[in-house]
Amino acid sequence: MKKIITIFGATGNLMYKKLFPAFSNLFKNRFLDSKTKIYLVGRKDYTLEDYLLEAKKEIKTNIEWDLLLPQLNYIQMDFSNSDDYIRLKTIINDDFTEKDKMFYLAVPPQLFPVISKGINSSGLITKGSDNERIVFEKPFGEDLTTAQKINKELWQYFEEKQIYRIDHYLGKEMIQNILIVRFTNTIFEQAWNNKTISSIQIIAKETEGVLRRGNYYDKVGALKDMVQSHLLQMVSLVTMERPKSFASDDIKDEKVKVIKQLSIDKKDIILGQYQGYKDAINIESNSATETFVFAKACINNDRWKGVPIYLLTGKSLDEKRSEIIINFKNDSSDFKNVLNNKLIIRVAPVEGVNFIFNVKEAGLSEKVVPANLDYCHTCNYLGNTPEAYEKLLLDLFNKQNSLFTRWDEIESSWKVIDEVKTYKHELFIYNNYEEIKELIVKGNEGLIDDL
Ligand code: BG6
Repeated sequence: MKKIITIFGATGNLMYKKLFPAFSNLFKNRFLDSKTKIYLVGRKDYTLEDYLLEAKKEIKTNIEWDLLLPQLNYIQMDFSNSDDYIRLKTIINDDFTEKDKMFYLAVPPQLFPVISKGINSSGLITKGSDNERIVFEKPFGEDLTTAQKINKELWQYFEEKQIYRIDHYLGKEMIQNILIVRFTNTIFEQAWNNKTISSIQIIAKETEGVLRRGNYYDKVGALKDMVQSHLLQMVSLVTMERPKSFASDDIKDEKVKVIKQLSIDKKDIILGQYQGYKDAINIESNSATETFVFAKACINNDRWKGVPIYLLTGKSLDEKRSEIIINFKNDSSDFKNVLNNKLIIRVAPVEGVNFIFNVKEAGLSEKVVPANLDYCHTCNYLGNTPEAYEKLLLDLFNKQNSLFTRWDEIESSWKVIDEVKTYKHELFIYNNYEEIKELIVKGNEGLIDDL
């Protein structure tokens, strides 16, 4: 069967930075072939040549243009004009008779309803059809109320099984690995609670600033751009109870339960904005948007009572690093210099797992020193491990939605963010990461490592 994917928002950053490289690899590695067509939809009146000229200025990675070009088409549309959807339908229908159709909305959430309505009313997607699916980029909504409104409208047009809400962190190799590391290793599973674990750190640091995404980012900020989705997804996978089975819905049930038990106290949040943010393109001159968040969350259940869950994310910081760190308690009073055990799940840029434990120093010394068991996830794999978007696009093509977010996951995470948004916080302007780190450490004694 022929496959057609239509991407709304094809002139955006996501298309250039993530989707083109992902498609390129999928064609190169023959997961997709010439039976796949990609329709690029934008509001600008381009020919395909004009579009590619612009795109190539923005794309920073190697793309297999020879493979991709014959599959591409550019279509200009006014998203609010119903005639344009009919025109799109004619183009798509003329192309192939029997087809599998996917629509990818890489646009701000405010546009989800109008585009969904256009797609449905024109008959591009029929509610319930197995061969017609629609993908929504994050953030899904701007808060709980808008997300609920959007979702209600989507359910008029599509069945839940046709809806794919993306959170690309779920497509990352090491995020998919969290449950395996936790639940297939008795040594960790037995220790996964407040008797043995002293704290958890969930980190997603970036060196880049807002780049040319001011239009989007200034309305959103780090809490909605990163915490509501990627960080809370990581928290839920790390802290959920063992599911009834490892079927997608059973896992999601447990993830939702634990996010409902998560709370963040007003005093446990630091919001920051990097110096120079307001000078970036399309940022309000008096913007109070946060580009940095540090928060201490608690999970109010028997397993996690008393274990702080530290969340840290921000732009324009000292390094690009996404990591989950499990700090174990240290109750050995018989030896000096004993460090706490630590399990580090490295998500990016390095993919792997480290386990830090204590050993005797080599030689005549009796000193206790830390040793590091270092598992490199990519080292045994020939070639590069697939990028998150590659995995998720392939799952979409294969009608596999387990790594996409279910509605109640979105709902529960917005509740957390909405609550935090009601707090009034001073915005700390940072020149460099050291300045915020100092602030964090001051309020959280003992939390110096690995930040
Ligand atoms: C996106 C955010 O979802 O994730 C971006 O919108 C952020 O602001 C990006 O830069 C980080 O993803 P990754 O895969 O580079 O860690």
